[in-house]
Amino acid sequence: MAAAVLREFGAPSVLRVEQVEEPVCGAGASLVDVSFAGLNFDDLEHRRGAEPGVQLPAVLGVDVVGRRRRDGRRVVALMRRGGGYSQVAAAVDAHSVQVPDDIEDTQAIALFEQGITAYGALKLAGRVRPGESVVVTSAAGGVGHLAVQLAAALQAKPVIGIASTAAKRAAVVELGADVALAPEEIGELRAVTGGRGVDLVVDGSGGAQANAALTGLAPFGRLVSYGWRGGGAGCGWIEVSTEELVGSSIGVAGFWMRHLVDDRALLTGIAEELFDLARTGRLTARIDRIWPLSQVAAAHEEFAARRTIGKVLLDVREVV
Ligand SMILES: NC(=O)c1ccc[n+]([C@@H]2O[C@H](COP(=O)([O-])OP(=O)(O)OC[C@H]3O[C@@H](n4cnc5c(N)ncnc54)[C@H](OP(=O)(O)O)[C@@H]3O)[C@@H](O)[C@H]2O)c1
Repeated sequence: MAAAVLREFGAPSVLRVEQVEEPVCGAGASLVDVSFAGLNFDDLEHRRGAEPGVQLPAVLGVDVVGRRRRDGRRVVALMRRGGGYSQVAAAVDAHSVQVPDDIEDTQAIALFEQGITAYGALKLAGRVRPGESVVVTSAAGGVGHLAVQLAAALQAKPVIGIASTAAKRAAVVELGADVALAPEEIGELRAVTGGRGVDLVVDGSGGAQANAALTGLAPFGRLVSYGWRGGGAGCGWIEVSTEELVGSSIGVAGFWMRHLVDDRALLTGIAEELFDLARTGRLTARIDRIWPLSQVAAAHEEFAARRTIGKVLLDVREVV
């Protein structure tokens, strides 16, 4: 079978498609004939060697969709240990969910990892209520573009998306945001909400954007952080003191999908909810582009250049 193999850390060109042995399944895992693998921000860090824990040679890729050999069912799966950029993946059964017949593979994979994160940040950690105002930073990203739609579906009002380019902001409005702002305009959240401030910020960037968003929270407003890794001044951890929280009656929370993925009932319940929203047209993943596996390096270049809107996929069946 073909897979994109990482034999050394470095620039995108270190990713090479090779013929390799199929993976071996341990207990509680099944082989999946993969159709599409997702590209994720963490893959860039893993490729560069910026994250500990990647043993070379490695096959990157943390989400796949395809057909499970054991029972012929279409499944979408999260691959915590990688192995997604491959024609056959060994997927943990507890982290796999059956895809309904009326949901296409490309939608299923785009809705899974990123949709679960958007849902978890908005609903589980953010406890958004109808009528609340919601800000989504990195609103054109894989997670962000679903968070904008989910916030609107959960009757948040207004939904404010933050994105770095005019093209991304236009896309964010098309997705259902009431307002789209540039990162430099995030200090205007009070003005945009008639002086009141916002109820919930769902933040995938951290850094200067998160700090500025905090100052725009209304009393009892919350900021939920789910990502901080972009690099540069706009991203990174922020520090908040309890003095600031008490002084403004605001809250800060975090969301990591691991705590949802390890709860099978929660995982399947949320996946069903996301698929149902997709089925009824309230949630549509935007697929930025589907790259053949043979062009995985170019896909990484494009992703790292911050030009993508929505989810980026690899068609692992295309190797030339
Ligand atoms: N907590 C969790 O469980 C969880 C789960 C999935 C993903 N994540 C994290 O969430 C973040 C977003 O994931 P995603 O799948 O939505 O990624 P994505 O599609 O690449 O979107 C990331 C967004 O970040 C913004 N960004 C800011 N600075 C950037 C930089 N220097 N380079 C690239 N992008 C930059 C970009 O928006 P602008 O150009 O508009 O600024 C981009 O649209 C990542 O940090 C990822 O690790 C967390």
